Amino acid sequence: MNKFKDDFIFGTATAAYQIEGAANEGGRTPSIWDVFSKKEENVFMGHTGDIACDHYHRMKEDVKILENIGVDSYRFSISWSRIFPDKDKVNVEGVNFYKNLIHELKERKINPAITLYHWDLPQWAQELGGWENRECIYWFKDYCTKIFEEFGHDVSMWITHNEPFCASILGDYLGIHAPGKKDLKKALIVAHHLLLSHGIVVRELRKFKFKNSNIGITLNLSPTYAVSKKSEDVRAAKTSDGYTNRWFLDPLFKGHYPEDMLMVYQKEVGILDFIVEGDLDIISTDIDFLGINYYTRNIVEYDEHSQLNFRGVEGEKEKTAMGWENSPESLHDLLTRIKKEYTKLPLYITENGAAYNDVVTTDNKIHDIDRINYIKVHLKVMLDFIKEGGNLKGYYVWSFMDNFEWSFGYSKRFGMVYVNYESQERIMKDSAIWYKNFIKTRSLEV
Ligand code: FCB
Repeated sequence: MNKFKDDFIFGTATAAYQIEGAANEGGRTPSIWDVFSKKEENVFMGHTGDIACDHYHRMKEDVKILENIGVDSYRFSISWSRIFPDKDKVNVEGVNFYKNLIHELKERKINPAITLYHWDLPQWAQELGGWENRECIYWFKDYCTKIFEEFGHDVSMWITHNEPFCASILGDYLGIHAPGKKDLKKALIVAHHLLLSHGIVVRELRKFKFKNSNIGITLNLSPTYAVSKKSEDVRAAKTSDGYTNRWFLDPLFKGHYPEDMLMVYQKEVGILDFIVEGDLDIISTDIDFLGINYYTRNIVEYDEHSQLNFRGVEGEKEKTAMGWENSPESLHDLLTRIKKEYTKLPLYITENGAAYNDVVTTDNKIHDIDRINYIKVHLKVMLDFIKEGGNLKGYYVWSFMDNFEWSFGYSKRFGMVYVNYESQERIMKDSAIWYKNFIKTRSLEV
């Protein structure tokens, strides 16, 4: 049967900097993304998250839309600099914003799933060295402890980090995300500190002994395939897989970094002396679930000119507006591999979805058939995986509404809800209506 069980969680996701706006209100201070996006060349057309979807002011209206769609759960992130506008200063207004959001959600039987870090490091922390500074782990711990104190009784699903790969590699090696650095060693330090802070925060939450409390981490994982059987392409694919997937999965689930990648990285940046004895025990602290963000696969080939000797190759499948292939079969490969090689823990797809060039019709409708199809084919693969004994417990569409898509600004629309950035009007796209009807029956017609 093409039906998900009743306890399977259907949700949708957003992140603070992408939707909240009110960048200078409510006692919030800038994050690295405010600073990064204000340097014109960094983001498409100089867009910033200053106003975004104005969700800070429209929160109640937005929660009503979530209720209308009928999601079981809503995944959002907390803006650290709203809670701690300065190192040792708590901002009650910021705490209250999230308190109200959680209250509104729970009133409507929507389970909050909170991401503690979705890339918006407070600028004050960056000025003290950011994630390159090992101390940052303890600033993060203080912030998370405050959040647990305030909301720990009301929230049953916590995600420490969203995509540490992007937060480190895109931000500190490729320079295309905040803080915009281009230094592999720095990126590896940042990645290590992010992972370490994850373990420390998991241990912190356990101390509270909340009744119904689950914590995990979300990784962006992309199955990686060599473009040919040539040994140099196969080797390139192995490195690319190490870079994107194994560098994060192995320490979390096996308690060590992958040997081959240690060699690759040490050859480039020298000894990785920021990895201190005992760190990997902390990083591999038991968690309750793994969150997976899945969008597409990677195809790679050998490239003698790139630093790590691989480069991406364009695949042949149909693409979304991001130029990403719609490749649901690779999600199956990925889930199967996680189950076989890493963990039998519950898995959640904490993000999956697609940007398309949505058109608003004269009668204010958005017939985003491609997005519906994208979601459906991925749900189908999930059902297959569950039938094969996979421990998959939930699925979150990225995104609830159109929002600030990082370096692409507002040019890429991922939402099930359309946002008119001039009027801030929200319109449910056909995908939102489809998802609503689907959640009612949980049956998939493909
Ligand atoms: C993920 C991010 C999310 C969004 C989607 C499209 O990498 O976690 O914020 O930008 O991609």
